[in-house]
Amino acid sequence: MPLVPMKQLLDEAAKAGYGVGAFNVNNMEQIQAIMQACKETDSPVIIQASRGALKYSNLIYLKKLMEAAVIENPEIPLVMHLDHGNSLDTCKQAIGLGFTSVMIDASLLADGKTVASYDYNVETTRSVVEYAHKLGVTVEAELGALGGIEDGHGAGLSADDTAHLTDPNQVVDFVKSTGCDALAVAIGTSHGAYKTMRYDKDGKALPPALALDRIEKIEKNLEAAGYKSYPLVMHGSSSVPPELVAEINKYGGKMKAAMGIPMTDIQFGIKRGVRKINVDTDGRMAITGAIRKVFAETPEKFDPRDYLGPARAALYNLILGKVKDFGQAGHAKDFKPLTLEDMKKHYAKQGK
Ligand code: G3H
Ligand code: 13P
Ligand code: ZN
Repeated sequence: MPLVPMKQLLDEAAKAGYGVGAFNVNNMEQIQAIMQACKETDSPVIIQASRGALKYSNLIYLKKLMEAAVIENPEIPLVMHLDHGNSLDTCKQAIGLGFTSVMIDASLLADGKTVASYDYNVETTRSVVEYAHKLGVTVEAELGALGGIEDGHGAGLSADDTAHLTDPNQVVDFVKSTGCDALAVAIGTSHGAYKTMRYDKDGKALPPALALDRIEKIEKNLEAAGYKSYPLVMHGSSSVPPELVAEINKYGGKMKAAMGIPMTDIQFGIKRGVRKINVDTDGRMAITGAIRKVFAETPEKFDPRDYLGPARAALYNLILGKVKDFGQAGHAKDFKPLTLEDMKKHYAKQGK
């Protein structure tokens, strides 16, 4: 099976009512761990690379590793997606590399920090849609800005900032004006491990307060405008499991009190149109905990396979749980994959 278009994966997820994990990667072990978990659970999946990941891997390495994943797992529908593209040029570069889907995040200016105007977002997103759809490539956009401390992309808004949450009354106009295939919404999640401003009297972190009612309003407005089952995307969806924080700290780490998005909140979103769920931090934590454990318990070891192997196994275990909780497990063989050629015709017929 070649890489598949993300629009097809999300439409299939909408039909059957599940969510698809979009997992960030930077190296071989991460790709292998995700593919193994998806193969064993028969899960369609989105693997995504940020601009930072592409730079780190010198562009070509991630592309070639993804090709290896396709060759080794021909039965798994796999999307290669650009996460938080900051400009038309970045999206063009990813499409040139063979990505079947791109995100243009023009909720921020190209610096990845400054909150952009609505008009800038519409114009920039539209330019990417025009370019990508001619090639059959799916486009995810973002309306409203995420908080958080992401290195490469993020407004750095405080976690209780509500001014930049997605305005449900702008969504229909945005989707209509841009033609984007999927929309990332800002409902109070943020990137990274430190998503919450809420702590109990003992300093224990409590889950961040999300504006989940906005998802309901967004879905309702889209449906009323004729966009039935329009795919929404939740960024910043790591759960930051306390056991992973504890594992990292047990073996010499110094993570502060942290808490992420409870799975029940994600599942609430999935019931109301969230189809793509972005997870990076949890994977980073699983890997870090496993490596720290090897270093602490067997400091005499120095073969990278002795710690990268356990790191890969820890990520595999984490992904196994996620694909079951998101509901994508068991759905890999539900549909016949479309090609980018099929998607080109689809978009041409729609005139967009
Ligand atoms: O949302 C972004 C991901 O967590 C990627 O982060 O830019 O550090 O690769 P990165
Ligand atoms: P987390 O930091 O919560 O894993 O979010 C990742 C993300 O949204 C990538 O785009
Ligand atoms: Zn993100």
